[in-house]
Amino acid sequence: MIPMVDLKVQYEALREEILKQITDVLESSRYILGPKVEELEKSIAGYHGVKEAVGVASGTDALNLSLKALGIDKDDEVITTPFTFFATVEAIIYQGARPVFVDIDPETLNIDPEKIEERITDRTRAIMPVHMFGQPADMEKIGEIASRYNLFIVEDCAQSFGAHIRGRKTGSFGDAGCFSFYPSKNLGAYGDGGLITTDNEMIAGKMRVLRNHGSEKGYIHHAIGLNSRLDEIQAAVLLVKFKRIDRYLSLRREKARFYTEQLGSIVQCPQEREGFYHVYHQYTIKSPVRERIKSYLYEGGISSVVYYSIPLHLQEALTGLEYRRGDFPVAERTSLEVLSLPIYPEISESALEKVCEAVRKAVA
Ligand SMILES: Cc1ncc(COP(=O)(O)O)c(C=O)c1O
Repeated sequence: MIPMVDLKVQYEALREEILKQITDVLESSRYILGPKVEELEKSIAGYHGVKEAVGVASGTDALNLSLKALGIDKDDEVITTPFTFFATVEAIIYQGARPVFVDIDPETLNIDPEKIEERITDRTRAIMPVHMFGQPADMEKIGEIASRYNLFIVEDCAQSFGAHIRGRKTGSFGDAGCFSFYPSKNLGAYGDGGLITTDNEMIAGKMRVLRNHGSEKGYIHHAIGLNSRLDEIQAAVLLVKFKRIDRYLSLRREKARFYTEQLGSIVQCPQEREGFYHVYHQYTIKSPVRERIKSYLYEGGISSVVYYSIPLHLQEALTGLEYRRGDFPVAERTSLEVLSLPIYPEISESALEKVCEAVRKAVA
């Protein structure tokens, strides 16, 4: 079977270095918030051109802690996309705030900036764009709207490590950028992990306190926080992979280019807008015969996944928000047509060819 992602090949290539780094941590007896986390935070802040990075326990917590540090509270509204992973809205709801959805752009699959303004009310406090599948959302337009209405921006960068717009990285546009190090992510740990980037030192200070039970030191607590700390072993693994991240991303882009050349005329392939550097966490096609493509792939021994088959406004857990079918037609149609194909830096050209061959047969 050709898998969606093969984490073992990368581990094998890095095994010696990773095991050495992990052994260093084990022998240091510093297991939580030690020097590796600090080194990772400094390196990733530098990579993004921001002053601060705060390591946390997961991408979900990065979102939670960002909203909390910015003071998002009950009765507030946060604008986001209905076409994303569930964690994006969970974080909003955890603050007691209301997610307000805005439909997506059918080409980029990201929140449509042209439709944001009509959803702004006097309760709106923040916009939460998601850089879906590694494609940067239109941060130039979103930034302009946020500053006009004095709103915070919390970027969900769980899928977009290293993506940029004209050189400016996702995670450096907003008040906070939230990253996930879930193992299959472009920069993945060997367990859960996450990180927040911010250029605001005061907000970063709050996040550092909140990730540790609202405590700065000793057993003195300034706020209600969480236990959400990145551990040293994960940071050690991430440092090894981070050194190579730009090469991994350009390999992903090479594989994506191959797919687009082969499939561009028969299905809708990811669109790269001028100046937008897509990092292909997923390579996601759209086709009205998605189910047929999926079964041809399956029969050819090839994995594929539908991210996401139900847009968030139609999820059972969110019926209390009182959205209806038809409210976000582009997201609804997209959920019926998307299919993500295998992609990872080490995937072979013969595997890519097999995938393309099966897609061609399915649409013939
Ligand atoms: C768009 C998006 N947001 C948030 C998350 C949550 O990240 P984590 O799994 O690290 O909590 C994910 C991860 O799957 C994601 O894809």
